[in-house]
Amino acid sequence: MTFAAMIGHMKDREVPQRILITGASGGLGSALARFYARPGVSLSLWGRDVPRLTDVAQACRAAGALVDVRSLDLSDVAGAVDSLNAEDNAHSVDLALFVSGLGDIRPPADKVEGADLVARLGVVNYVAPTALAAALAARMAERGQGRIVLIGSAAAFHALPFAAAYSGSKAGLARFAEALRLGVREHGVAVTLVSPGFIDTAAGRRVPGPKPLLRSPQKVAEAIARAAERRQAHVVLPWPFKILRLFDRLLPRALRERVLLGLSPPSR
Ligand SMILES: NC(=O)c1ccc[n+]([C@@H]2O[C@H](COP(=O)([O-])OP(=O)(O)OC[C@H]3O[C@@H](n4cnc5c(N)ncnc54)[C@H](OP(=O)(O)O)[C@@H]3O)[C@@H](O)[C@H]2O)c1
Repeated sequence: MTFAAMIGHMKDREVPQRILITGASGGLGSALARFYARPGVSLSLWGRDVPRLTDVAQACRAAGALVDVRSLDLSDVAGAVDSLNAEDNAHSVDLALFVSGLGDIRPPADKVEGADLVARLGVVNYVAPTALAAALAARMAERGQGRIVLIGSAAAFHALPFAAAYSGSKAGLARFAEALRLGVREHGVAVTLVSPGFIDTAAGRRVPGPKPLLRSPQKVAEAIARAAERRQAHVVLPWPFKILRLFDRLLPRALRERVLLGLSPPSR
């Protein structure tokens, strides 16, 4: 389905009214904000970079949406949860997309990632989105409805020696999403985990080496919206990354480790 047809199709169906997006100043988050922006929709856009958030907000307002922006650092997890509770008290959130995230690749000169970086990725990629999702899921469960989307990564399913903190934090997020989904499903709340491969954003372009099956943020945003609308449990984008996941599971450990080490930039 084309982008325009998809918007038309969604207009005729149940469109969430109040949508919260973290990481809305980034490549994928801004594509999602633009995708959902239309009359009758109210967007809460979170990020840190005020000029980029302002640009995205302007584009969304031009498309007819009501827009609030919130600049905050998710490293302050308690502060972020307070902000979420305050927003949800003021206007119940129907759909939340937790998109913010940090990438990392160990510099070739380093044998392992620095402790500071590992801690930062743990907080931004795992602690903050899971705490926010838990707080919101509890509120949605009380209301008997709502949708939560957590953006993980295809890297969650592979023990990448050059990006241990990234693959580890996203693996934790994937397990959390699955458990949360099972816990709140009977209360009318849908939790969708999205595991993308390579996306053509500034962050994606910083990853060295070839990027097979690279997708535009717009295409990925459309697929995420479709999955959220269908209340899908897990979507891997694009689908051939599912095959890699299967290989990873089936290969004998020695062979799997050889393949993973072959992907690594050499350490010195
Ligand atoms: N790009 C890819 O190839 C790829 C592949 C798989 C999964 N993903 C995942 O997709 C998501 C979006 O990635 P992207 O490519 O759009 O990256 P991006 O353009 O770098 O955007 C990342 C977003 O996260 C926000 N963020 C980072 N640290 C934050 C913090 N401490 N507090 C608050 N916000 C923070 C950024 O805010 P500011 O810019 O305002 O600081 C930005 O809005 C991430 O979760 C990423 O792991 C990306």
